[in-house]
Amino acid sequence: MKNRIVRWVAWAAAAVMVTLAIGALTGTPIEQTAHGAQHRAGGMRFIRIGDAPAGDDAPTAAADGSQVVVDNFSFTPATAAVPVGTTVTWTNHDDIPHNVVSPEQKFKSPVLDTDEKFSHTFEAAGTYKYYCSIHPRMTGQVVVR
Ligand code: CO
Repeated sequence: MKNRIVRWVAWAAAAVMVTLAIGALTGTPIEQTAHGAQHRAGGMRFIRIGDAPAGDDAPTAAADGSQVVVDNFSFTPATAAVPVGTTVTWTNHDDIPHNVVSPEQKFKSPVLDTDEKFSHTFEAAGTYKYYCSIHPRMTGQVVVR
């Protein structure tokens, strides 16, 4: 009986070592693998470690202000700072229709269903506030420099 336990412990230790070795070889952090499993199991939303910007030089399409995500009744980022001439694209990731409306009538999207997009190019510097006219408490702004 004792020998069986010893063998099982040795086997478990070997399995852990193999898992760590595979993780090291593929560059997959164990933590990320765990998050992936959690994502598949629970449908929880998360940002994978691999998607995080590595530094100032990393390509960060989502962080440059040109991409605004509409989700959970909010605009992210709420303030998008972009250079003059930038085309900003809003994508509705919510299960609810939303729109993007400038109260100063600088731009107005149609009602966006899930996964639909709207883009507007900002040719002049300024602060452009906008909101969802279906849910007016949803607000955001684009700051063009
Ligand atoms: Co809305």
